[in-house]
Amino acid sequence: MHKVIYDTDPGVDDAMALVFQALHPRIELLGVTSVFGNSTIETTTRNALYLVERFAPGVPVARGAAAPLKRAAPDPVDWIHGDDGLGNLQTQLRLKTHTAPDARPAHRFIIDTVRAHPGEVTLIAVGPLTNLALAVQEEPDIARLVKQVVVMGGAFGTNGANGNVSPAAEANMAGDPDAADIVFGAAWPVAIVGLDVTESTIMTTGYLAKLRDDAGETGQFVWDVSRHYEAFHRSSAALEGIYVHDASAVAYLLAPELYKTRSGPVRVLTEGIAAGHTIQKPANFAAPAPQWDNRPSCEVCVDVDSERMLALYASTLCGT
Ligand code: BDR
Ligand code: CA
Repeated sequence: MHKVIYDTDPGVDDAMALVFQALHPRIELLGVTSVFGNSTIETTTRNALYLVERFAPGVPVARGAAAPLKRAAPDPVDWIHGDDGLGNLQTQLRLKTHTAPDARPAHRFIIDTVRAHPGEVTLIAVGPLTNLALAVQEEPDIARLVKQVVVMGGAFGTNGANGNVSPAAEANMAGDPDAADIVFGAAWPVAIVGLDVTESTIMTTGYLAKLRDDAGETGQFVWDVSRHYEAFHRSSAALEGIYVHDASAVAYLLAPELYKTRSGPVRVLTEGIAAGHTIQKPANFAAPAPQWDNRPSCEVCVDVDSERMLALYASTLCGT
């Protein structure tokens, strides 16, 4: 059983990853922590509460950072995730929530929960990494108590992609590059699932329609929530479907054998036009690299068995 804290900025694909975790029998969700990113912290927290009430009732939600460590919060990406951050479901569902967030801020919730389950907790982080950075800055020793951190973020160029918000940076890294550089340098085992594999895995319109027909209420929700997101992919990438970003981090936790990884320390550029760019030191790099050396090694995903990843997601939602 994987004990998981899900750190997220819902977000359409964040919601699709949340139902994956809520329904998978080998995942125990200990909490959901919100962060700014796809929308404001008010909206992502409201969406996290809505999703948890509907698909994972009883799981605590803690409100996280409203802005990156050292800069202003980015504007919501409503043309991707909708005005409400959930594909414009607001008018349909009115997204009313009945529960309140945990009294603690997200980073404190993370610290307390990790201490309550030493060596057992996996952090799945699929938004800007501000909450994780705040937690490990406040109490650095928790890094050694975390079982694993799985991050959706970054791009390492193996499929030609180096970014999606700029030619050099992926959205979650650009959202808070300072936090990402802290998280990749801390003493916890980190796996990074970036655009190299998430843009290589596509849920086609046909795949999503089959989920709608076969996976009951959850399948219908995934279909509804992804309409606006799919239209964005059609107009921006001429895709008849959607890239599988955040759910890929969940799939990595459940089935790491589906991913080929490369080991080595990772740095994140924090300033300039390439802020948020991720660079892994190659294993065969011969010259001294003082800015990378003495940093822990991260596992970076460079290839994926997409067919099996998509089958895992579908079978989880269908309960088969
Ligand atoms: C990442 O950015 C967000 O828009 C998505 O939710 C995902 O976490 C992809 O670059
Ligand atoms: Ca996200």
